[in-house]
Amino acid sequence: MTRDDLLKLVQGRLGDSATMQHCLACEACMRALAVRFGEDPVHWGMAGLAHDLDLNVCAVNLEQHTLIAAEVLRAAGVNEDIVLAVLGHNNKAPRDSRMAKALWVVDHTTGMITAAALIRPSKSTADLDVSSVRKRMKDKRFAANVKREQIVACEAGLGMALDDFLSICLGAMNDIRDVLHLNGHPAPVVEGGK
Ligand SMILES: [Fe+2]
Repeated sequence: MTRDDLLKLVQGRLGDSATMQHCLACEACMRALAVRFGEDPVHWGMAGLAHDLDLNVCAVNLEQHTLIAAEVLRAAGVNEDIVLAVLGHNNKAPRDSRMAKALWVVDHTTGMITAAALIRPSKSTADLDVSSVRKRMKDKRFAANVKREQIVACEAGLGMALDDFLSICLGAMNDIRDVLHLNGHPAPVVEGGK
């Protein structure tokens, strides 16, 4: 399956929801991390793009989350290492590969960067820097559902310093800030987000 076919598949399920934006943000971060590690950015990006494709039907029963996605992805012929990374981000498979570990860390990082951008007067990543994101992370009440421990797992899981990791993810998201509505013109809230 090509990346564009996968995009159509995911969009067909998530529409123009906040979850769709989140998947696109994760794709961008995964691509940038793949480049860092000398891996295939399109392949790693597809894991990010696909990872929450069943969240629209699993939001009330997170136990099913990624199990349905795995069925859909396998039926579509997506590579098994991508399927395993998707399962791994909801603890439904061991996170053995570096791609799976990266997806685990990226998942909550995108939420933190998005929240840190939207609270700025600019409502944009364009003038957001790593130190501001770190400051927000220290405030436990800010974006309280974002798991800080999953973000700092970049150190143990990927061997990357937190600043380095945040810088890559912030840069990747900023590059597509128009797509992510992090350009000063936030999208209206659509149900189904995370
Ligand atoms: Fe996610």
